[in-house]
This record gives sequence, structure tokens and C-alpha cells, in this order.
Amino acid sequence: MEEQGSINQNRRNFLKGGALLGAAALLQPSLAIASEPLYGKEEGFKIVVGPCLQSSFNNTVSIIWVVNKNAASWVEYGLSPDSLTEKAYGKTELGLKPIGTINVIQLINLQPGTKYYYRIVSKEIKDFQPYKLTYGEVLNSDIQSFVNPDINKAEVNFFMLNDIHDRPKSIPFLLGLDKETKPDFVFFNGDIFDYQTDEPQIIKNFLQPCTEAFAKYTPFVYVRGNHETRGKYCRELPQYFESISYNAFSLGPIRFVVLDTGEDKEDTHPVYANIVDFDGYRREQAELLAKEIASKEFKKARFRVVLMHIPPRYSGDWHGPKHCTEVFEPLLNKGKVDLVLSGHTHRYQIHEPVKGLNSYPLVIGGGPKEGTRTLTKVTANQNELLVKMIKDDGTEVINYSIKK
Ligand SMILES: [Fe+2]
Repeated sequence: MEEQGSINQNRRNFLKGGALLGAAALLQPSLAIASEPLYGKEEGFKIVVGPCLQSSFNNTVSIIWVVNKNAASWVEYGLSPDSLTEKAYGKTELGLKPIGTINVIQLINLQPGTKYYYRIVSKEIKDFQPYKLTYGEVLNSDIQSFVNPDINKAEVNFFMLNDIHDRPKSIPFLLGLDKETKPDFVFFNGDIFDYQTDEPQIIKNFLQPCTEAFAKYTPFVYVRGNHETRGKYCRELPQYFESISYNAFSLGPIRFVVLDTGEDKEDTHPVYANIVDFDGYRREQAELLAKEIASKEFKKARFRVVLMHIPPRYSGDWHGPKHCTEVFEPLLNKGKVDLVLSGHTHRYQIHEPVKGLNSYPLVIGGGPKEGTRTLTKVTANQNELLVKMIKDDGTEVINYSIKK
């Protein structure tokens, strides 16, 4: 395989004022206010977090890591730990390979149902003169592995976590409630943070616990909640991920659609200070959903599952939830969606289909506080889609089966 496509990093670096200085320059104010800086200029070159896998499947996976100094970075991978013969870089743009501190490098054209071994490599850039670039130390991770799933596999398993709200210990704790299942992915259904402050928060409260608990070998899928749209660093959040918004992918018998439901209050609310347009954004998401439900992949899928933070109904009468009902529910009904998974209310619940309202069952995960936290587990084969929810004391609170 040749150089692979990457994601957001390079483009954003350009947008923020130069490929080299982009991410690093942005991080300086954040480092200044962090109570426990994860790294400083005086430290040696190091990998701050990762590797961490994120995927949208279709024989691709993205590998995420962050280093503390500007570097040229790549992934070495292959079918055996002794032979990492392939190399993937971030996407070349305008003829320039990306350099910086944040890496989201995508591997493409992977073979279905195949185990891959990989390691991340970063080469520090000590000095960047117009005609003489000086490299420093080269760092690499241990060799890790993952299985690229066959999208036509007979069965799919995934876990959902939602509304963690800056409680990183909940991630390993809740995943630890089921040590038997090997999920194909872990889905984070929004409000993993209270609001976005800086890079150390993204690392300590999300990427680090994910890397330690599962993400070196099992990918996550992530969609923003209304809280990830807040705070001075929310505009930087996307550069750490392959995707945090709309997505659609097939895995096993399920066609997944991920919707970004935006904020919960009206755009004109004073707390947004005239710098948001979530009504327009939700309408764009609805247009994508309309196209999706007309697609061959959606129509031919055995089961259709929609993942969205704010539930399309039954979450109060604030503007955001009501607008979600208005723009999304007619499409969910028309598309004969088999299941919607949401969060946001902090109260785990199942709402069965109601004639004239929601023709889909809606399962809502619990909240951030002890006693309300949940792990939602979904399994599907050709005949059955089964949702089980476990509360943080280990008791099963939902067991809902949808048969075909
Ligand atoms: Fe929320």
C-alpha cells in the first residue's frame, strides 16, 4: 500500500497559519492555563498519548496520537509483527506532507477479516530553516495489533457509552462491566466532556483512558453531544479525530447512521453570543439523512441503527430537542429505522414505538453520576438485534430484542 489518506490535521494546520506551527502554536495558551501540564518545552521529545484507533470501517482505520514537539510522523504496519512493510502518512496537501504534534493517520485498503500489526513513528523537527531542516530523535510505540473486520461478517457487537462529562475513570469502569464480549467498536454518544477547554483535557479525559482501556486494538466511533460544542477549544476538537459528526457505515447486518444533533438551546440564546448556527446545521444533517435513507446500503441492510446524542423525542421541550423531532423524526419513520440510541437526558430508558409518533424504538443511556451510569451493549445477527443495558452496579436494566 502506498501513502494513505489522512484526515483533518493537515488542512487545519494550514487554516491556522502554517503547516509547522499550526497545532503547536495553538496549544501554547492552553498549556499556560493547565493546572497539570502534560508536557512542556523543557521536556524531551515524547509521545503524549496514543496510539488510539478510530474507525468508520469499510476497510479503513485511523490511528491517533499526540507528541509534544513538532514532528514528521507515520505508521508502519503489516501482516506480521516482524515485517511492518507498509507505511502510511497523513494526507499530502498542496504537495506537502503534514508535520505537527497531532496525528490522525488513516490506513486504507485493508484486507477484510485480517489481523494487522502496527507501530507509530514520530521524528522530531529540531530546526526548520528554509534550506536546512534538522531532525532530532525518532520515537516509536511498541508494536500493537488490530483486526480489520469483514464488513459482511455474520454478527456485530458494539458498546455504547454516553454522557461521561469529564469523568475519565468511568470509561474503564463501565467497559469493565462486561469482560466477556469483544466488541467490534466502542461508540461514544456525546457529552464526554462538559465543555472544551484545552488539549490536556482531550488527552486526559478521553484519549488516554481510551488508549489504556481498549483503543490500541479496538476502534471507537465518536459523535459530539451538545456539550462538545461549548468552550473556547471546541473549534479545535475535530482535529484530534477522524470524525465527530455525521457518519454512515455498514458493519455486519447493521447499517449505522451517526447524526450530530447540535446544541440544546435556541441559537439566539445569550450564552451562544451569536457564534452558532445549529438550526442550519441540523437541517444539513437532515439532508444527509434523507440521502442516506434513499441509498442502496441503507435499504438493503438487515437492520438500520441511528446513533444521535439528543433523542429525537422524549427529552423535554427545549428548542434543540424539539427541532430534532421536527427535522429528524419524519425521516427516521420514513426510513423504517429499527433502533435509535441516544443519551443526553441522564436517565436510562426505553421508549417503544408509538403509532403516529415514533415508529422506532428509542433506547437512552444513563448519566454521568454514580448510580445512573450505564453500559449499553448491542449484538446483531441476521435474525435479531439485541440491546442490553447494564447499570454501574452490575444489574441489567434493559433487555430488548428486535427480531426479523
Ligand atoms: Fe447532552
